[in-house]
Amino acid sequence: MDVQLQGLSESDAYSLFSQIIIPRPIAWVLSDNGVEHGDERWNLGPFSYFNGITSDPPMIMFSIGDSMAEKVKDTHRNLKNNPECVISLACVDQAKDMQNSAEDLPAGESEVKKFNIALSDWNWPVPRVTDAPVSMGCIASQFTRVGNTEQILVFAEITRLWVRDDVGALDSKGQLRIDVEAFDPLARVGKGAYAKLSEVFRV
Ligand SMILES: Cc1cc2nc3c(=O)[nH]c(=O)nc-3n(C[C@H](O)[C@H](O)[C@H](O)COP(=O)(O)O)c2cc1C
Repeated sequence: MDVQLQGLSESDAYSLFSQIIIPRPIAWVLSDNGVEHGDERWNLGPFSYFNGITSDPPMIMFSIGDSMAEKVKDTHRNLKNNPECVISLACVDQAKDMQNSAEDLPAGESEVKKFNIALSDWNWPVPRVTDAPVSMGCIASQFTRVGNTEQILVFAEITRLWVRDDVGALDSKGQLRIDVEAFDPLARVGKGAYAKLSEVFRV
């Protein structure tokens, strides 16, 4: 099938490519709502247009679609005000919490509070999602608008890393080895569908 792309609306293109470019990792982004005290402080949202992009320094990129939402998303606004954030990688058991946290709450309201998602303090100004096997303390360093609409690429430097003890272990060379089965990462495959890794093989 030769699929015609000309004249495709932004939402139809999103629907199409989000089912083709798969499986995608999900950046579960915790950012600061700017409410100094109180339980509405932390904003949590998933972003699956996401990947690692550099190693020196280690950086990730994720993409925020403000135009289809017809608003500046809370994560975008928060990171502009305070670039420190935590990007967690959810495991399969956290699929419901992750999906819930995508709810479009009014600015300043917390998905963490609404869905009772546990956070833990650690060696970083922003807490991490307690049950996520991996969390990265990041600083958003660049916001680049791409395409014809309000689509914002956020580039962020990874400056701290937390890995659950059963997920990461040092090998004989002192390198951190990740146990993929213990990690059990959640992947997105489009249209509300998710996947888990069923088999890991080497080529
Ligand atoms: C699994 C998943 C992945 C998502 N990926 C993206 C994405 O890459 N970019 C985006 O703008 N929105 C994405 N969304 C929608 C946002 O999570 C949603 O708009 C959320 O309300 C944004 O939160 P915020 O307004 O608190 O920043 C995704 C939703 C889900 C459930």
